[in-house]
Amino acid sequence: MKIGRLNHVGVAVPSVDEAAEVYRTMFGATDISEIKDLPEQGVRVRFVHLENSEIELIEPLGEASPIVKFLEKHPKGGQHHVCFEVEDIIKARDAMREKGATVLGTGEPRIGAHGVPVIFVHPKDFNGVLVELMAKPELSH
Ligand code: CO
Repeated sequence: MKIGRLNHVGVAVPSVDEAAEVYRTMFGATDISEIKDLPEQGVRVRFVHLENSEIELIEPLGEASPIVKFLEKHPKGGQHHVCFEVEDIIKARDAMREKGATVLGTGEPRIGAHGVPVIFVHPKDFNGVLVELMAKPELSH
């Protein structure tokens, strides 16, 4: 497998609306998505669209949210993951495992915030950075 484009940087925050407001007022960002709830993943997201990439703002949705623990450690929010595009998500997952990396969960790709399958790879395998791999979207934004 070969790494593709940086699709987005994930930032965990207590409130996606308040965080979106920071990007709007501090940076003049205007292209910011509406809230999207992903109950299966326990998160609520908004995207700040940039010229070459996106910031994915992530707020916990429900008590079992995987973001809850992260926000306990970083109450004001913090950089959570980076997401790279890959041509084939199954081949990418298998390659990660063959190379000894830990794919989180069952390893079955789940539909992510962009409507395409994603997997996550453990930060211990990537210099402390949680990595999301996503199938290349059909159309780039
Ligand atoms: Co993401």
